[in-house]
Amino acid sequence: MKFDFTNAVGTNVEGGVSIESIKSITGKLHDFLESFRQSPPGFVKVLSSSSELNKVLEFAEKYRKFQNFVVVGIGGSALGIQAIQGALLPLGWNSLNSEKRNQHPRLFVLDNVDPEYTTSILETLDLSETVFNVISKSGSTAETMANYMVVRGLLESHRIDPKSHIIFTTDPNEGALRKISIDEEIPSLEIPSNVGGRFSVLTPVGLMSSAITGIDIESLISGAKESISSFLSQDDTLKNPVLFNAAVHYLYSKMGKRISVMMSYSNALYTLADWYRQLWAESLGKERTLTGEVINAGQTPVKALGTIDQHSQVQLYMEGPNDKIITFLKVNKFRKKITIPKIHGDRKEFSYLGGADMSELINIEQEATALALLEKGRPNLTVIFDEINAFEVGRFFGYYESLVTAMGYLYGINTFDQPGVELGKLNTYALMKKEGYESQREHIEEIKGKLKSFIM
Ligand code: PA5
Repeated sequence: MKFDFTNAVGTNVEGGVSIESIKSITGKLHDFLESFRQSPPGFVKVLSSSSELNKVLEFAEKYRKFQNFVVVGIGGSALGIQAIQGALLPLGWNSLNSEKRNQHPRLFVLDNVDPEYTTSILETLDLSETVFNVISKSGSTAETMANYMVVRGLLESHRIDPKSHIIFTTDPNEGALRKISIDEEIPSLEIPSNVGGRFSVLTPVGLMSSAITGIDIESLISGAKESISSFLSQDDTLKNPVLFNAAVHYLYSKMGKRISVMMSYSNALYTLADWYRQLWAESLGKERTLTGEVINAGQTPVKALGTIDQHSQVQLYMEGPNDKIITFLKVNKFRKKITIPKIHGDRKEFSYLGGADMSELINIEQEATALALLEKGRPNLTVIFDEINAFEVGRFFGYYESLVTAMGYLYGINTFDQPGVELGKLNTYALMKKEGYESQREHIEEIKGKLKSFIM
């Protein structure tokens, strides 16, 4: 993986972040590097623990006989799984027959509580051939608990033993799922206590669905380790892609670039942009600094897909408000090759395409868009995957988890909490009349009572 910052900095981009301004925050970046070395975050430590890894491999072997593997989880307990699935499994994985899937199960993710969506997944499954992995760090998220109860109700109504068809992936000690797993002997995996939801992709949360579908989880982990160790071994800010990128995004955000777009020029990598959106938004979108000052930090993350969004979003990126920094994802060697046939060779509208490699076309379109944006003074950078494989995807996770931690350090915020999300969860419990949330419900009713209605 390589990083091209040419179109993002210095005199290359009109009104862009200067190398001098990056140098001016070198001290802060070095303090961050040192603090990361001294006390690495949980998502780093977990990469070196082999016990859960072995348990994941053992579970993957045990449950592989099932035709369907259904993850029940949301947010950090779903997005990493979907990112890996999108990048590393063929698009039509669930439609392939067992032989083509190499006897690995299909993979579904039940995250939302949209009754139509939940039904559309559940009604296709032969329950006797299905195992459900209920993933929740807290063991209490309303959506996950609701879908778990629906699934369990369905199993029980078909007289199928839940113990053989349900796995819990949850905190080792805390929460309702852990208690049920102990009380009812439901097999379980552990999410290390020191790793938060959106940083948990390389814990059993993301590793179990990967291992059971035949993805090389050791390569995922080695990729993440490699990107973190290369970041930690480079003191020079101008040569360290994590520190450099953190400085670029931080300084642009201070200059009014409130939107950070990730535009993938690969369908397979598009789901990585979904994972990135959560990581960026929940980690950096904070009201206050660690010392309590109001900062309202964060850039709004947006995802886009090239070339499709060239025909949709790019007009705005080019000529709308100059409030964005764009990160392109580009692939050097695609896993499939299509040569465009030389049809209509006598017509100049087609002849330049005939004989070209389709991957050349998509990559040239990316370059053309990046340069056009640059000409309009719109900063952009490119993350280049040499190819899409488990090692490179692992590197991407390790890179972005380190980057977001660096950004949080620069803002002086708590990168690892999510008080805004917690309030929404609290209100849901109160409105759903959960026991113990009566006073919050009264508070909400009071607020609602003061609102003038504009329902039409
Ligand atoms: O990053 C986070 O902590 C959140 O997005 C959680 O992943 C999400 O709310 C789901 O939480 P849980 O895994 O506890 O069900």
